[in-house]
Amino acid sequence: MNTPASPPGAPDTAVLVPAAGRGERLGVGVPKALAELAGEPLLVHAVRRLARSRSVALIVVAAPPHALDDVRDLLKSTVGDVPLTVVAGGSSRQESVAAALVAVPVDLPIVLVHDAARPLTPPTLIDEVAAAVRAGHDAVVPALPVVDTIKRVDTAGTVVDTVDRSALRAVQTPQGFARDTLVAAHKAAGDTACDAACGTADQAATDDAALVERIGVAVHTVPGRTEALKVTTPFDLILAEALLASASGNAQ
Ligand code: CTP
Ligand code: MG
Repeated sequence: MNTPASPPGAPDTAVLVPAAGRGERLGVGVPKALAELAGEPLLVHAVRRLARSRSVALIVVAAPPHALDDVRDLLKSTVGDVPLTVVAGGSSRQESVAAALVAVPVDLPIVLVHDAARPLTPPTLIDEVAAAVRAGHDAVVPALPVVDTIKRVDTAGTVVDTVDRSALRAVQTPQGFARDTLVAAHKAAGDTACDAACGTADQAATDDAALVERIGVAVHTVPGRTEALKVTTPFDLILAEALLASASGNAQ
């Protein structure tokens, strides 16, 4: 399922932005994508960086179903010349991505999936992931070495063992795929007996590479970036504010 090379310079990539989560761990009372970082919603920061990538031909946002018009208005000026489609998200991240994937036309051979909750992802990472797919990898994830010592615990919280972290990676988004590969992976996930394996919001896959792994496709890694951190808790928001305020954050 290798991706054909596209004409040099022609944008060939659709980016799906799951943005329909409730943000329960952030706890600010609005969907996390609409929570503010330095006076602008996380989603605006994330989409602005996507729109700057030279690879991106289309952005599809899976928004909270009650906020479709608000999200369209919010992003109108952010996307500039890049076409924008806003669809209703689902009850899990996986469902939101699946809903956005349906909106990708067949003539775009590369699809990236990028969390709205990663507002400071550098455009260079977005281009690197797309380039790795263009170079022939059917699935690509940015990955960082794990710095903490990792232990496995039992249900009582007692340590069972210490995991060898040298082979572990923390993965980020954007994750990039040959379009056909991502479509096949989501179709297979949809066809699975989800009651047992993947059907509820709790059990759905937390990233798209996991679905691709299930259909036996190799997932390639490229170096991740600390700036591509995911905002999950109030502490992450403080960290992101500080990064944005720093010279390197402003240069993104
Ligand atoms: N997401 C989505 N649809 C869902 C759940 C999550 O589009 N039903 C999106 C989120 O908006 C976010 C990304 O998937 O951009 C990663 O999810 P996560 O960090 O878990 O965000 P939330 O689900 O919003 O947060 P929480 O789990 O704390 O409620
Ligand atoms: Mg969530």
